[in-house]
Amino acid sequence: MQRAAPQEFDRVLSSMCTVPHPDARAAAERFLAVNPGDPATYADVSELEAQAVATLGELTGLDEVVGDVDGDAGSDADGVGAAHGYITSGGTEANLQAVRAARNRRDVEDPNIVVPDSAHFSFSKAADVLDVTLRRVPTDDDHRTDPAAAAAAVDERTVLVVAVAGSTEYGRVDPIPELAAIAHEADAYCHVDAAWGGFLLPFTDHLWNFAHAPVDSLTIDPHKCGQAVIPAGGLLFRERAGMDALAVDTPYLESTSQASLTGTRSGAGVAGAAAALEALWPDGYRREYERAARVSRWFADELRERGYEVPAVELPIVVADLSTATFEALRERGWRLSRTGSGPVRIVVMPHVTREMLTGVLADLDDVR
Ligand SMILES: Cc1ncc(COP(=O)(O)O)c(C=O)c1O
Repeated sequence: MQRAAPQEFDRVLSSMCTVPHPDARAAAERFLAVNPGDPATYADVSELEAQAVATLGELTGLDEVVGDVDGDAGSDADGVGAAHGYITSGGTEANLQAVRAARNRRDVEDPNIVVPDSAHFSFSKAADVLDVTLRRVPTDDDHRTDPAAAAAAVDERTVLVVAVAGSTEYGRVDPIPELAAIAHEADAYCHVDAAWGGFLLPFTDHLWNFAHAPVDSLTIDPHKCGQAVIPAGGLLFRERAGMDALAVDTPYLESTSQASLTGTRSGAGVAGAAAALEALWPDGYRREYERAARVSRWFADELRERGYEVPAVELPIVVADLSTATFEALRERGWRLSRTGSGPVRIVVMPHVTREMLTGVLADLDDVR
């Protein structure tokens, strides 16, 4: 059989995956066969998971609100003093589990969740699987959730209000303190989806994390801007009760309960996340954020000079109104490019997307239009 090889990243422009950090790759290979889903049997990988969750807690301000995060993730009995969460298979599982925790904690009949139009499609799956009603609220002209619309959509059956911190299409950050207040006024929980933006936002002035607002749960994915290997998402809770609401008994394992959605989980994903976080938080992530911010601003200006409409770049996603013919011509030249739901193309400046690469895109653009 011919040996299959993965494609290179040198033409990938719209994906939120990227080249992993070498330490993450090496750690993933070492932990390929072990199962963090059974921590009593596989204690070493479980220790790495606790470290990764503790660092994610530091990165998202969780340690400031629950006391010192000491690497003892989720093991304290009183709901304070440690980060509560786990390494998921990705943002989809983290978002689904956040919805499930809120539904289980509120115990209302016919529950609904309030989600902005800009939210990732994982919430549609979550609503479908968990049988909760999805209430979509519009975003404003700048693609952020309109708090007035969210306030109008919540009612006594709302169990969760979702805010996005780094939206998939435009990289926008919702007004999170306002949305958290709206959620709590309705006795609902507030979840922040920072799956993509979470490794960029610590270096900005945005209000997005547990320390900035009374956020109850948060998604942050090491396998996106965290430069870990796939699969590695992250789910964090302000209180231990969030994890407790997900736990089921596990007879016939050495461990006695399990909060994750999947049973057997990827040791490679967990070990890769722990290694990437150790190598890059905070200075490596800061440097990458600053590079990506510079490159995306430059690229946006280049496109504007060519007459394209490019909205302000907030986090490193550049959106431009290329015609369908230009979009198709670039794809024919091998660029892996996608469009937003409303049409414009989106280029996500991930760690592998360099200025040199984008200079090549501009040259092809000048050639085909
Ligand atoms: C904001 C956001 N949330 C959730 C997800 C889903 O993550 P995953 O593909 O890892 O399941 C994505 C994926 O791009 C995303 O951008």
